[in-house]
Amino acid sequence: MSEDSEIKERLRLQYLDAMGIPVWKLRSLPAQGAEPAADAALPETPETGPDCKQQSPLSATKVPTIGAGDGWDNLAVEVSVCARCELQCTRTQTVFGVGNRRATWMVIGEAPGEQEDLQGEPFVGRAGQLLNEMLRAIGLQRDEVYIANILKCRPPRNRDPKPEEVAACEGYLKRQIALLQPRIILAAGRIAAQNLLKTTEAIGKLRSRVFQYEGIPLVITYHPAYLLRSPLEKRKAWQDLLLAVETLNKSRVPPSS
Ligand code: URA
Repeated sequence: MSEDSEIKERLRLQYLDAMGIPVWKLRSLPAQGAEPAADAALPETPETGPDCKQQSPLSATKVPTIGAGDGWDNLAVEVSVCARCELQCTRTQTVFGVGNRRATWMVIGEAPGEQEDLQGEPFVGRAGQLLNEMLRAIGLQRDEVYIANILKCRPPRNRDPKPEEVAACEGYLKRQIALLQPRIILAAGRIAAQNLLKTTEAIGKLRSRVFQYEGIPLVITYHPAYLLRSPLEKRKAWQDLLLAVETLNKSRVPPSS
């Protein structure tokens, strides 16, 4: 077996093991016309992207233990061994998402940066600190909201995500949203906004409006990393946050008298 095939096979076995799916090995070739081999009935392994010359250190080994039938845990395991795109080759680890899995608010950013890739948690660098302050300004603690990204892996040198990477990751984010069922989504930055809305319109035209994403109100604001570089824009970001709060408040059913 070639080195590449061995890596693929190891990932396949890790994935099946993490999902609690036993793997049967064929002892001998079946006679012609005999029943198909037992493992022919096994579910397909996840689509694999391009092979890596070198596997990143954590991605091949760090497989969390699966929970008791919890959709979140299953999804987290799937993401942790994802090989759907070439970012599998350069990441230290995947960055699934963090926060309250019953949150009303969901924040969606672009992709992990260097610190996030190292720590396995979104928005932990300087931009993350500013995001925490922005949330605090509207009365929310970081652990009250759920934070995720368009991409679960860091693009090398923090380049923009490629369309095929976004497409490969989209299903994970959709499943996170379906599990969380937030009452409001705040998209932080151009990449998050454009990919959620499938548009190339400039962020300046997308902010200060309320969109719907799969039936959930979606408000766009500037990325905290951009606000660190352009602090004068913080005033607009504050208006976006107020718009999100107002949108959520309007959507609350008034108590019956
Ligand atoms: N920027 C993002 O968009 N997401 C992160 O997790 C970190 C920085």
